[in-house]
Amino acid sequence: MISVETFVNRRKHLLSRIKQGVAIIATSPERYRNRDTQYPYRFDSYFYYLTGFREPEAVLMLVAAGDGTASQQILFCRDKDAEREIWDGFRYGSEAARETFGFDAAYSITRLDELAGELLANQPVVFHAFGHDAAWDQRVVGWINRVREQVRKGVSAPAEIRDIRHVLDEMRLVKDDAELAVMREAGRISAEAHKRAMRATRPGRHEYEIEAELLYEFRRQGAESPAYTSIVAGGANACVLHYIQNDTRLKDGDLLLIDAACELHGYAADITRTFPVNGKFSGAQREIYQLVLAAQTAAINAVRPGNNWDSPHQAALQVLVQGFIDLNLCQGSPEAVIETESYKRFYMHRTGHWLGLDVHDAGEYKQAGQWRELVPGMVLTVEPGCYIRPAEDVPEHFWNTGIRIEDDVAVTLAGCEVLTALAPKNVAEIEEWMQCTMISER
Ligand code: GLY
Ligand code: MN
Ligand code: MN
Repeated sequence: MISVETFVNRRKHLLSRIKQGVAIIATSPERYRNRDTQYPYRFDSYFYYLTGFREPEAVLMLVAAGDGTASQQILFCRDKDAEREIWDGFRYGSEAARETFGFDAAYSITRLDELAGELLANQPVVFHAFGHDAAWDQRVVGWINRVREQVRKGVSAPAEIRDIRHVLDEMRLVKDDAELAVMREAGRISAEAHKRAMRATRPGRHEYEIEAELLYEFRRQGAESPAYTSIVAGGANACVLHYIQNDTRLKDGDLLLIDAACELHGYAADITRTFPVNGKFSGAQREIYQLVLAAQTAAINAVRPGNNWDSPHQAALQVLVQGFIDLNLCQGSPEAVIETESYKRFYMHRTGHWLGLDVHDAGEYKQAGQWRELVPGMVLTVEPGCYIRPAEDVPEHFWNTGIRIEDDVAVTLAGCEVLTALAPKNVAEIEEWMQCTMISER
């Protein structure tokens, strides 16, 4: 769990970065699925990163006053409401929220419009995630205009609007020890879910039955939810990169690709494993699998301080391209295959992304036109793959083979730490793990 002190310190750090002005960070709205039935609530990641507060209808205002002495950390949140709490459960109310979450002041969300005008008066800059939510953009501009109307009273309105995400993305990109501890745990639970899924898999079962095993393990171990919609893709379905129907019967001789992981205390894991439905890789499956695994190993070895964001991708690409040539999937020299991008027929995505509160997390990948350097505390996924659709110029035994192997990797001083290492990955490990069940069920 992340301490209140950590959240307070993040707000202090943000205040010191923006120096002068007011930052406005609203959490996500509740969303309706139909009529009065809501989607499960998920807070806004930026808001949560700075507050640890999970209730909807809440706004953080940070007033930065130059030298920091008069800076304020203010929360607006829902009032206590005995009637609503019977239906929806506990709410903090402003007083308890202020105390519990370490704010200087907290007010009822019903007073937001009234007090925002006061807080923005005579401030030079408003920091906000402009463009993220049109309703909030309009509301903030309305506040600025209201301040502007008081110009004859000698009040000045903010002259500048800046995107707060610029600063926050950089803060979120490098994880502290508490975040890494949560992500390690999210990785462990997700890996155990994959192990459970492997043991539950056999010909004749449906993809959704395996999905259920994953969801069961996430929740059984206290994770809030999946971090994204699970992909459970048997056979040819694995060649559809964003396949989420998960409703096909699993066939003997096919592979099963599972891309699924949980969200724990707001933090995402992201794991893919690919394994044989019947517990034993065929020769052709093993060839492609070993190639993708070699590419992934090379990419993980390239995750270390001093290398840049693109290093793991380039390392994976070198291995994959040589493999595609050796297997007669691509023709020409490795340089030509990379130059013409003919490899993209079989490997059309990049090798990873930042990971954190969002599965595709905050943070720029390039700075001043250069891939950014990896530094300790960054967390990224390493996920090469190979997807082979039927085609006349492709050996038939490779048709409909879709393989991806994905782990979550934290950059450390010495190199990297794989947060999801518990999920079996080598051919022998997978076959052995799956065989245990098959034997025990005989
Ligand atoms: N599960 C989403 C991704 O791998 O990027
Ligand atoms: Mn991923
Ligand atoms: Mn994934």
